Amino acid sequence: VAAAWDVAVVGGGVVGCAVAYALARRGARVVLLERDRVAAGASYGAGGMLAPQVEAHGPGPLLRLGLASRDLFPALEAEVGPFDLDLRGIVRVAHTEAGAAELAARAAWQREQGLEARLLEPSEVRSLFPDLGSPPLAALWVPDGRLVPERLTRALALAAVRHGAVVREGVPVRSVRPGRVETGEGPVVAAHVVVSAGAWSADLAPVPVRPVKGQRVLVRHSRPLLDRVLWGDGCYLVPQPGGRVLIGATEEPEAGFDRRPTAAAVARLLARAVELVPALGEAEVLEAWAGLRPDTPDHLPLLGPLGEGGVWAATGHYRNGILLAPVTGERLAAALLEGEPLPGECLPDRFRG
Ligand code: GLY
Repeated sequence: VAAAWDVAVVGGGVVGCAVAYALARRGARVVLLERDRVAAGASYGAGGMLAPQVEAHGPGPLLRLGLASRDLFPALEAEVGPFDLDLRGIVRVAHTEAGAAELAARAAWQREQGLEARLLEPSEVRSLFPDLGSPPLAALWVPDGRLVPERLTRALALAAVRHGAVVREGVPVRSVRPGRVETGEGPVVAAHVVVSAGAWSADLAPVPVRPVKGQRVLVRHSRPLLDRVLWGDGCYLVPQPGGRVLIGATEEPEAGFDRRPTAAAVARLLARAVELVPALGEAEVLEAWAGLRPDTPDHLPLLGPLGEGGVWAATGHYRNGILLAPVTGERLAAALLEGEPLPGECLPDRFRG
């Protein structure tokens, strides 16, 4: 006999887990269905940068959402953590004139928006990053941060369970329709269904989501080389506990659903990382990994109802799934349970002809 739920969430990545947590915390009866294990896909290998300012191309809805979500992390870590949150900033360095001009322009427009953004003196750069190779022409500090994505995702899933949600792993979802999810283990009946299946969301719902492959390499050095995230020309370096450094990332929209790390990409990432921080040349290589970012035509997430039948999208977060998970959970839960409005720029029906 199929159980009846208020909400079935499809997908146990960071977004599905954040949605399940936010719903369960508000008292909804939630089941989360994950075909593999929680945090098995992009949420496992993501860099974990919380980078609304470093990644922004300009003011707009993505920046607004990203800043709102960044602000939610300290309280979230107190509620569900720990997940190694560090909001002491990200430094982006440039070794070319064009890159330096871009950093100066970025600092200027972000300050005009009332945000903190500071070009660092060479002496500050040296004291923050004593292992940096050749000195950059410019360095920009912004109050972004980082965390360990797998820990965040698992913490959200466990917190959802503490609030009464049921997390079912190893349950593949075959199809979604209003009120009903067909799985490899039989039907699941729920008043609402939320599709949070990342790059695979278009297999289950009419959403314009496509994969953009990203590769990264994880290394470990015997001493901590980096105190905070360093973003250079062609790679970013994210320090993790235990002397680990995550080196990211490629952008390969032409690769489709291919999730194999390749020798050429790994070689390029390692070369850029070692150029930026030469001591990384002695680091032990722990893991090469590739995952799929769920992209949309305008690179904004899909957040909201798909028609009138109680099927919802919470997907398409592209490069920003870790950052946007808390705001996604909160806004979607408030909309679904309390009828609160969702950000208009993210409504899925913006793509309807
Ligand atoms: N936000 C980092 C990346 O997607 O590579």
